[in-house]
Amino acid sequence: MAKTETQGYLMQAIDATIQFGGLRAVDSVNMNITAGTIVALIGPNGAGKTTFFNLLTGIYTPTEGEILFEGRSVSGKKSHVIADWGISRTFQNIRLFKNMTALENVMVGRHVRTSSGPFAATFRTPSFKREEKQIQEDSERWLEFVGLIEHANDLASSLPYGAQRRLEIARALATEPKLICLDEPAAGMNESESADLDELILRIRDELGITVFLIEHDMKVVMNLAEYIYVLDFGKLIAEGVPAEIQSNPAVIAAYLGEGGAEALVEERRKKKAAERGEEYKPLDTHGAPAGTMAEAVQTSDTAAAAPATAVMDSDGVVMVAADENKGE
Ligand SMILES: Nc1ncnc2c1ncn2[C@@H]1O[C@H](COP(=O)(O)OP(=O)(O)OP(=O)(O)O)[C@@H](O)[C@H]1O
Ligand SMILES: [Mg+2]
Repeated sequence: MAKTETQGYLMQAIDATIQFGGLRAVDSVNMNITAGTIVALIGPNGAGKTTFFNLLTGIYTPTEGEILFEGRSVSGKKSHVIADWGISRTFQNIRLFKNMTALENVMVGRHVRTSSGPFAATFRTPSFKREEKQIQEDSERWLEFVGLIEHANDLASSLPYGAQRRLEIARALATEPKLICLDEPAAGMNESESADLDELILRIRDELGITVFLIEHDMKVVMNLAEYIYVLDFGKLIAEGVPAEIQSNPAVIAAYLGEGGAEALVEERRKKKAAERGEEYKPLDTHGAPAGTMAEAVQTSDTAAAAPATAVMDSDGVVMVAADENKGE
């Protein structure tokens, strides 16, 4: 496809929409991904992030608009065709073959790129056997890449959670994608697993040259890795930009304010501050809003938190409220 037609973008969403009954889960979304970048898609629970991945990977077809990959529309294309074009993904809820080994799970991904037909497979022709051997060696290399080669013969279900997430990434890489879509790869990981994941994602882009499209709630991961961020809320894009812009975007902060995740982070921060000052921690509890919600923290003028206009999100995803610093709790 000519560069002018795609404007040089690997992926373009043009007014992409999917309607389920009365719900526009993805609503007129426009998005561009440049090859070789790491792009994040963030937003509160139920914002439509996974649904967007489902549109991109052929699980759903847009009811309006379209998504182009290298200038070709994915609409109506089967998932395996889209995988063949060069998009692979991992799932929010890990989808591994639990009773297969780590190596066998990667080999399943590798089969996307092989040529033997059912005849060769049934009669185990020499060319089939050669190809199987090649698949195994390639799959071992992907296990090595994600740091799981020692677990090649372990059952997927026996691996720790973080390792299962990396195994899913190895399987996605084995299809040799141009674009890898990771749906909350850090979910359920501890600090050190999540730091290892950051490094792995960077290596996917830097060493393999694969474009990364990342859904992630862990703002530390997002802010560390993403060069560009799109923010969805109720199906609509409410912001886009580089991390610094997103961290200080009032609409983004407001979207997160209504959400438990940010609330918990702010409470955490207030607790830490109180401890630093040797004061007793007092939960927010005023003005009729449920105690401790972020919405309330922002509305409440006589507590630590202040107007959202002065709020920014730090690299830990903690919504920082500038006036908080001046009020002296
Ligand atoms: N097949 C479907 N039929 C009806 N509604 C759906 C379907 N798939 C998703 N939805 C709805 O679309 C909305 C967006 O869901 P989605 O899973 O994309 O959110 P998300 O941003 O990935 O959230 P989370 O962060 O919790 O994973 C939700 O309200 C969800 O219930
Ligand atoms: Mg999701």
